[in-house]
Amino acid sequence: MTTTLFVKANNRPTEHSISGKLYHAFLDSYRASHPNDTVIELDLYKEQLPYLGHVMISGNFKSAQGIELTPEEKTVHDIVTKHLEQFIAADKVVIAFPLWNLTVPAVLHSYLDYMHRPGKTFKYTAEGSVGLLSNKKVALLNARGGIYVEGSSSEMAVSFVKKHLTFFGITDITTIVIEGHHQFPNRSDAIIWDGLQKAIQAAKTF
Ligand SMILES: Cc1cc2nc3c(=O)[nH]c(=O)nc-3n(C[C@H](O)[C@H](O)[C@H](O)COP(=O)(O)O)c2cc1C
Repeated sequence: MTTTLFVKANNRPTEHSISGKLYHAFLDSYRASHPNDTVIELDLYKEQLPYLGHVMISGNFKSAQGIELTPEEKTVHDIVTKHLEQFIAADKVVIAFPLWNLTVPAVLHSYLDYMHRPGKTFKYTAEGSVGLLSNKKVALLNARGGIYVEGSSSEMAVSFVKKHLTFFGITDITTIVIEGHHQFPNRSDAIIWDGLQKAIQAAKTF
């Protein structure tokens, strides 16, 4: 049985959100083409996602050392662990997100913070860190108003998420980007339509 986790990092109504449209196009196509898979939807804006900070770091450290956590640390640690275990358990993960202010929404940044746990998603070796999730497949669905050259240092959303994933050893990454619909308003409808068709097709073989 294959489990696929769909993560949405945008709470704008779908009619106003291109990454939301990508999410639903991919999801509907995926459900139709993979009727036997278990699909889990995770809307990050509907979750309580505490920031990485002292309480979280201290709770993670104490838990790893077998030291008793304070009630506050335990509450935060349980949230982090719930998301971490769900991500690890999924065979495939789809993440939809916009480019906002040069990077990803803060909720996605927090979510990715939760995935960094030694012994679970990576391990330290004498040669450096090694990712532990090499069997996982990921699809990234991103919308950005301008056009960015592949690998450009000013694009810090797709490249940011990919850096995290590769750190965890994930190399099977499908990326679909709708871009330039603000930069070229006269071509906006065609750009969006084309991107949604790509998402529908990619979902069939994901
Ligand atoms: C708050 C905000 C910040 C944005 N920042 C950028 C940006 O840095 N670069 C860019 O190319 N487009 C930027 N845009 C345009 C978005 O990338 C574009 O609207 C895209 O469709 C966002 O995905 P969404 O439609 O799912 O919200 C921004 C839009 C908003 C609302």
